[in-house]
Amino acid sequence: MKIPWSIPNIQDKEIESINRVLDSGWLSMGKEVKKFEEKVASYLKIKYSISVNNGTSALDLALKCLDLNTKDEIIIPALTYIATGNVVLYNNCIPVFVDIDNTLNIDTTLIEEKITKKTKAIINIDLGGNPTNYKNLLKISDENSLPLIVDGAQSFGSEYQNKKCCTHGLINTTSFHAAKIITTVEGGMIFTNDKKINDKANILRNQGETSKYIHSYLGNNYRMTDLAASIGNSQMDRFETTLEERINKAKYYKQNLKNVDYPEELQNTKNCHFFFLILVKNRNKLNKCLNKNGIETRITYPLPINEQTIFKKYSKQDYISAKKFSKKVISLPIHHKLTIDEQDYIIKKINNFDR
Ligand SMILES: Cc1ncc(COP(=O)(O)O)c(C=O)c1O
Repeated sequence: MKIPWSIPNIQDKEIESINRVLDSGWLSMGKEVKKFEEKVASYLKIKYSISVNNGTSALDLALKCLDLNTKDEIIIPALTYIATGNVVLYNNCIPVFVDIDNTLNIDTTLIEEKITKKTKAIINIDLGGNPTNYKNLLKISDENSLPLIVDGAQSFGSEYQNKKCCTHGLINTTSFHAAKIITTVEGGMIFTNDKKINDKANILRNQGETSKYIHSYLGNNYRMTDLAASIGNSQMDRFETTLEERINKAKYYKQNLKNVDYPEELQNTKNCHFFFLILVKNRNKLNKCLNKNGIETRITYPLPINEQTIFKKYSKQDYISAKKFSKKVISLPIHHKLTIDEQDYIIKKINNFDR
């Protein structure tokens, strides 16, 4: 048995779309990108969406839309994918880490003690798709006049109190990388209800161009291609079904797995389950056993971000909770092709594992 951790959900519709765009004579950013932006904005019920070439660029652009200065401080959770921290450094700012709580997301009770005069924004993620306490987060953001940037790379499809994730911040981003629930192979998007931010992001993603060959700002080439967007367009048409099937697979795991813990989920939230996470004792031993039996897994993440080489110098402190969970977490296979038989096989291996 060989069970991959993730398989991109590419079907006939995508192949038809790619062929149509290839035949059209226009491959780079154009009509397909526009259509994709409109579809996604309408799904999220947000005014503006700006496609880019990946989720890291989206997050980098989000920061570039704020008027940041060198050495401004940006608050980020201590457990996240490296890109959340990297963009802080790309913008010559200082990352300030906040420990996580039992949801594996930023512990909102610990944020305010980290705010200084130099703090200019908070970047938040919903780890694996599990929504953060946005009520608390938005209160802190409002009371301290700190823009909230939501790095929704993992939470497209999730909801917090009936509002879609990737919409709670002043600026929100997502990733459409091949492992994501909806993919454009590589790709990303920015979402906002703020016209000024929309206008700035549109200009900056396209070499700072304000009219043809007039470049008024330092921008970059962060454009998405029509070829990529055409894949996204086909995927968006069936996204609700894809999401529902994935959530059902997560439910099936939860109904049948024994002696494992899970990240806490807040009331009235919907987890898209980009990751299906379990928390276990003897994680490394169990993980080895699963891998040996053909079950591909991911450790998300093996280190709190402040312990990664490039971030070590920004904090000498240990983030106890992030450290603890990074030693217990395993991300199990969850994708559209995962069968009940395969899930049963994974469940059996975990339940029979001698801890
Ligand atoms: C939390 C988080 N932020 C940012 C990114 C970066 O997205 P991309 O790989 O599309 O650049 C990812 C990628 O998975 C992510 O998980």
